[in-house]
Amino acid sequence: MLALTPRLQAVADFVQKGSVIADIGTDHAYIPAYLLQQGLIEKAFACDIREGPLRNAQQTIAHCQLSGVTFLLSDGLTALEGETFDTVIIAGMGGEMIAHILLQSPWCRQQVQHFILQPMTKAETLRSFLCTEGFAIEKESFAAEKDKLYSILSVRYTGQKRLLSAAQALLGFAVEHPLFEQKRQKEIQRLQKVHASLANKEEALSERREVLKLIKEIQDYRC
Ligand SMILES: C[S@@+](CC[C@H](N)C(=O)[O-])C[C@H]1O[C@@H](n2cnc3c(N)ncnc32)[C@H](O)[C@@H]1O
Repeated sequence: MLALTPRLQAVADFVQKGSVIADIGTDHAYIPAYLLQQGLIEKAFACDIREGPLRNAQQTIAHCQLSGVTFLLSDGLTALEGETFDTVIIAGMGGEMIAHILLQSPWCRQQVQHFILQPMTKAETLRSFLCTEGFAIEKESFAAEKDKLYSILSVRYTGQKRLLSAAQALLGFAVEHPLFEQKRQKEIQRLQKVHASLANKEEALSERREVLKLIKEIQDYRC
């Protein structure tokens, strides 16, 4: 049986039993393979923009003697238009790339019931994008691997637009999660370094004030 890394396990944990998933940027197809093995899904689309990763995906599924996977060479969701699926997983890419993929295929807002998104970087950009575009972040979790903390977002399209504060965009909404305080402290330390790097720069006075204001918002943040 496949064992997932904590990051991929946290992604898989958001998948609802019986859903039909499209895993975008699937690479080795570990998520579809794990979900099939666990009997959580029967059907998946494993999609990647490059042939090499798609071959890796085919090998994993063959090696695990699984069936029910359609392999698609696809830039984002583009090759999926007209296919039947209800859940999109985009994991292991930058937040800006995930936002680009969602913007590139506006039809997905009506068709897809559930988006599970795991940005490696720029989670704050992705959260702000989602909320201004009418996606609702229903739930979040964290996963820790080595010294890195990753956010995993469970998202639905509602059409209701919302503006996030800088603290909301940076910290997200998993305030009850055991790793949340670690995330808060990491952001405070990062911003304190930014503040220190602006010291003695006369022209950076307003920037320094902004950074201090954000640190205070993060310290007081309750979601
Ligand atoms: C770092 S791997 C992530 C693999 C796996 N999803 C994970 O989270 O571990 C990123 C994968 O996304 C693919 N990729 C990058 N841009 C893409 C796009 N626009 N559409 C589909 N796949 C893409 C890459 O080819 C690569 O296989």
